[in-house]
Amino acid sequence: MSQDNSEQEDRAKPLKIEGPIPSTAVGIESIKESYSETMSPHRRIFKWFARRPTTTTRLAILASLLPEDITDDELLTSMCVGPKEEIDGSIEDYILAKEATKNNREGTIEEHFGYEYAHKRMPSESELEELHKIIEDQWNGDLPTVLDPTAGGGTIPFKSARYGFPTVSNELNPVAWLLNKVILEYAREIGSLESEVRKWTSKIESQVQSDISEFFPDRNGVQPNYYFRTYSTRCPSCGEKFPLSDQWWFNKDSRGGGGYAVKPEYGEDLTYRVIEVDDSTDFNPSDGTVDGGDAECPHCGVVTEREDLVTKFKQGDFDFEVCAIKYSDKIDGSKYHSPTPEDFNAIEAAEERIENDLELSTLLREDRYIGYYDRAGPYGITQWRDLFTPRQLLSHASFLQAFHDVKDEIRAEYDESTAEAILVLLTLIGSRQINHNSRLTPIRANRGFVDNMLGNNNFSFQWHFGESNMLAGGKSYESWTDNVLKYYEEVVSYYPDSVKQGDDFVTIYQGDGGDLPLDDEEVQAVVIDPPYGDNIIYSEIADAFYVWQRQYLNDIFPDKFDTSETNKEDEAVENPALEDSDKTSSTSESAREHYENKMRSIFSEAYRVLEPGGAITIYFTDKEIGAWDSLTMSIMDSGFTITATHTVSSETPSRIGVQGQSSADTSLLLTCRKPLTSDEGGEPTLWSDIRDQTRTAARQKASELLDSDINLTKTDVIIGAFGPTLRVFTEEYPVVDMHDNPVRPKQALEEARAAVTEVLIERELEDSLDEVDALSRWYILSWLVYEAESIPYDEARQLGIGVGVHIDEIKQETKIWGKSRDTLVLKGHDYRVRDYTALEAGEKRRERAYPVNPQDTSFDYNIDAVHAALNVLETKGGDFAWNWLKERDLQNATWFTKTVKSLLQVVPQDHPDYDLLVNLASGETGQLLDINTDFLSREPEEEQTRTTLQDF
Ligand SMILES: C[S@@+](CC[C@H](N)C(=O)[O-])C[C@H]1O[C@@H](n2cnc3c(N)ncnc32)[C@H](O)[C@@H]1O
Ligand SMILES: [Zn+2]
Repeated sequence: MSQDNSEQEDRAKPLKIEGPIPSTAVGIESIKESYSETMSPHRRIFKWFARRPTTTTRLAILASLLPEDITDDELLTSMCVGPKEEIDGSIEDYILAKEATKNNREGTIEEHFGYEYAHKRMPSESELEELHKIIEDQWNGDLPTVLDPTAGGGTIPFKSARYGFPTVSNELNPVAWLLNKVILEYAREIGSLESEVRKWTSKIESQVQSDISEFFPDRNGVQPNYYFRTYSTRCPSCGEKFPLSDQWWFNKDSRGGGGYAVKPEYGEDLTYRVIEVDDSTDFNPSDGTVDGGDAECPHCGVVTEREDLVTKFKQGDFDFEVCAIKYSDKIDGSKYHSPTPEDFNAIEAAEERIENDLELSTLLREDRYIGYYDRAGPYGITQWRDLFTPRQLLSHASFLQAFHDVKDEIRAEYDESTAEAILVLLTLIGSRQINHNSRLTPIRANRGFVDNMLGNNNFSFQWHFGESNMLAGGKSYESWTDNVLKYYEEVVSYYPDSVKQGDDFVTIYQGDGGDLPLDDEEVQAVVIDPPYGDNIIYSEIADAFYVWQRQYLNDIFPDKFDTSETNKEDEAVENPALEDSDKTSSTSESAREHYENKMRSIFSEAYRVLEPGGAITIYFTDKEIGAWDSLTMSIMDSGFTITATHTVSSETPSRIGVQGQSSADTSLLLTCRKPLTSDEGGEPTLWSDIRDQTRTAARQKASELLDSDINLTKTDVIIGAFGPTLRVFTEEYPVVDMHDNPVRPKQALEEARAAVTEVLIERELEDSLDEVDALSRWYILSWLVYEAESIPYDEARQLGIGVGVHIDEIKQETKIWGKSRDTLVLKGHDYRVRDYTALEAGEKRRERAYPVNPQDTSFDYNIDAVHAALNVLETKGGDFAWNWLKERDLQNATWFTKTVKSLLQVVPQDHPDYDLLVNLASGETGQLLDINTDFLSREPEEEQTRTTLQDF
């Protein structure tokens, strides 16, 4: 729609979020709380995937409800961000100053900042009353209802309920829905259950103890905690049995070369011995038998290739064996020991028990849904019970049985809702164990313990895996009981008294957000953190918990656990596995179409249930333009008008290109309104009329972010610029091209990216890239923007189109990039240039594999000349390279020096080309080229490590 004054007048009363907000302070707070030990307890009760920081959530909710004229300080105070005492100056300035000095602090982060983490705090009852009054005034006298249609682990409704706003939570997945019940209903209405639950867990535990402890033999009275297991198979060539593992460490000392490892021994039988590794050990535990999926037989040296190995697994032609055991205390000076015959007997006995028990032999004999990213299915893990060794299955089943045995007693002892709450908490404790006790449970090779199987948000095969003794140690039933109860009780304590009563102000639904059981115009505000494209396929991984929770709770919630797995069809994700291959369009296209349709129905539903003038605030946290395009399109198609965008940037850059890391640390908050009067749909705007405007908006935002003190990756800067760009675009929506074809948001976002890239070139590169050819430009820009050799393919392709190269067309000929799944890998000189000395020696081998010949006198692309020069320098030395350059007159070619110089500024210092580039630009060849290398004094890059939200 084009500018229209009457529309302005029709707008509802402006909200705080529709003006400036203190987003930098909130970004700093959000990062503070993202470390595991400082996380809000609601997310630690049970794992859910991709949760948002709670401070950003407070901001999104409160700023979407409060009036425009609230000051930043008032807003931050209502969010409990900042010191309680009066300070000089603004809270945001105070936080910025604290942030700037935090590395030199004494004491904890909390002490340094001078106030507790926001999620631990709440306004006092009188402050809350005051806040309610202001908000009621804004919303015609009543407290507005806040809806989250895709609530996940419940962060948004939890915050909303704590503040006493009428709250509606909806979530499709029953595993997440159950968490909402716990956090929003039981914790708030029933409250503390610690002693009650413990009464039953000790009963359950002692029953399990007498049922299965014989299968976990102690040693000298010391309990085993973990079993480290690995696979073995028979060599198809020599027939001998050999172990399959990519490495043999299970507690590698990260400082020195030592630690504990397993050494396979090939006597009459294959056995494993635990060894303590030091300098004198003549066995390298880092050398496994498996490498890149292929396995080499240690007896005859024949390699079984991945495909054949996979076939063997599918046919069940393998074993999994215990190769080491970790005890809860030292025995003979060490906690780690090799298994004994007694251990093997116990395992065998567990297997027999499973085989001979009718119920156990059929438990979870159900086919698994095997998704697109599933790396366990190909190895024959096709039924749910395959995920476990027989003894693991026996353990889980024993806890399940004990739960069922106390169920009726619990129901008889308490009122219905208390009994339900206790049974659900017992289910959470029981089902949490699954994640740390399966064949996909990884071993932390540097820590000597087992990790969680869904840490990467997918099912990945493990060559060696951990088995937990659930009767003792760090991942035992007792420890999960402590864990679940600790965080549950904390959540209970987080509710102010005034919101504890009343079961009617919080409503929890399980179902499709595109079809809510709400009346038209029933809610005033929607705050939503939607799923993003194919980032996480929630249903697929949640099934690992669901299939067990179903066993626990099916009779209590028959309509929630009635299907054998969770709902994939209604899930709003881009799931290629869901799409039939016989569709006309490609799988990924139809997967995206499915995602868009689902998101459109969720936003249309939000539109329907919102009252006119109601607000929706949407989180955007993705790096891929595709997901942004889909989301924006569905928002606009639903009839919303975008009224504000904000970037909430965290200061810790997380590099993309790292596997499974496509979620940005930068979030965008997008606020839209349902118009007061229904709009006829304005005149379309011509794309060419607003194109410059989108560029300007993006450039401005990028400069602003780069000028701020926040340490952002380039990709985060680009994302930050998407907000203002989208705003321009949606204000003018619908947008058409000269032929009246609709223009998608994607086009504006690509414009934004190109504009930001320009800004980056201007700021980060000494020279412009005018004289450099398009392909070489693309190569330099890819390094500049992504700061890593792996880049999302689609992004790189778009970047290419921006500078005028179609990267698919030049791939074969130039070999300048390679592809691995959806990732593009930039190649360096060693991959592309034939070896000069080999050429001299007349070697013909693999000639065609290298596109660049360093003996040529001219080159197709600038980058080829530079890569050739690097090879010459490396193989023939400086003098020779000097002549080589002269012969080709490269010292007089500006394009050559510009390419070298720009590469030096963008190629990471740990890349093999980097040192060669430095050599080329300095010393004799440097003098010849006349490159001033002053700009080279870059700070060394620091290693970033932190616990990510994904861990919880
Ligand atoms: C990004 S997550 C929300 C995370 C949440 N904010 C938290 O802090 O835990 C998106 C959620 O949308 C849910 N979802 C996917 N499709 C849905 C649908 N059609 N209806 C309702 N929820 C859906 C997923 O199961 C997932 O939990
Ligand atoms: Zn062999």
